[in-house]
Amino acid sequence: MLPLKIGDLEVPMPVVQAGMGVQVAKADLAAAVARAGGVGCISSVGLGSIEASMTDYLADSREHLIDEIRKARALAPNGILGVNVMVALSNYDDVINVCVEEKVDVIISGAGLPISLPGLTKNSGIKLIPVVSSGRAMKVILKSWHRRYQVIPDAVVVEGPLCGGHMAFTEDEVLHPEMSPIQNILHDVKAELAPFEAEYGKKVSLIGAENITSADDVLAKLDMGFNGVHVGTKFICTEESGIDIKSKEIYVKAKNEDIVVLHSPLGLPVKVLRTPLVVKLLNNEKIPFGCPFRCLRACEATEAKFCIADALLNTLYGDTDGGLFMVGSGIGKVNNIIPAEEFFEPLKKLI
Ligand SMILES: Cc1cc2nc3c(=O)[nH]c(=O)nc-3n(C[C@H](O)[C@H](O)[C@H](O)COP(=O)(O)O)c2cc1C
Repeated sequence: MLPLKIGDLEVPMPVVQAGMGVQVAKADLAAAVARAGGVGCISSVGLGSIEASMTDYLADSREHLIDEIRKARALAPNGILGVNVMVALSNYDDVINVCVEEKVDVIISGAGLPISLPGLTKNSGIKLIPVVSSGRAMKVILKSWHRRYQVIPDAVVVEGPLCGGHMAFTEDEVLHPEMSPIQNILHDVKAELAPFEAEYGKKVSLIGAENITSADDVLAKLDMGFNGVHVGTKFICTEESGIDIKSKEIYVKAKNEDIVVLHSPLGLPVKVLRTPLVVKLLNNEKIPFGCPFRCLRACEATEAKFCIADALLNTLYGDTDGGLFMVGSGIGKVNNIIPAEEFFEPLKKLI
């Protein structure tokens, strides 16, 4: 097993911990992964407190992100630290500015095409990693970064249809993942990258994301031609993830049959566990909410049946009836809560 190269950074363990929003992936988890030799990643969405956000969402988000970055740095001073920034955030530019000011090592940006990212991070040396799930998305990013900024990414996260989170697939593709296997997406992404890699004389590492819960899954993705992996669902069920223990227990008890596909207020399909809240939503019930701060630019708040921030905060605090449990297809293989470092133990023998 080789280290993962991200520009001039060398990551001893080719594992990037996925950013998971609304306080699943904060400093504790990111630091644990970074100390184990992977890339630890803070998700920048939903870090603030509801009360403070009501009056100044921008300042509150900024302050909490700064705190988390500094805490992670203190806990893992020699580790590699990233921040995940969803393009859909209403405060995207400001969050990227914080990452630049706080000198994080990498920014991973998806849930939309991060077209403006190189312009916001100019000369910072931060490594840029867009998230894509098709050759088409890769092409758009490459062409626009090349034309506007004369740069290409340092690495790319390639998501397959078995992933968790907001997905750039149709509902049909999510329900029938065999329609768009990750091998095909990898092939298309490589084909788009090849001419740009030749022109820039630079190798762009490819990081595979979906359904990775064990060392064997990591090796399978490396065999497939990826240089590293991006792991989300497995790390939800760690001691260091930020959500309440009652919510972690819902995750570890879940089976793949408990997964259903919902359309989030962003209009994208998300896989979630069938919980009382989800049953209401599937029955077309509307969960009343106010929207004081509009966290997501693309949120159709006036039409939405529920507020995704409220629902994820319920998960954070252990309200298992009102919570939304976003999940990847690997959840059936995750049966216990472990320290994050344990994931790396079998991999250590392979380097
Ligand atoms: C609970 C949860 C929250 C997530 N939050 C984010 C997020 O804030 N930003 C993002 O870009 N992706 C998010 N994702 C997607 C992951 O970053 C990742 O690519 C994916 O989950 C990896 O697949 P896996 O869960 O099968 O390991 C989330 C996924 C889950 C399961």
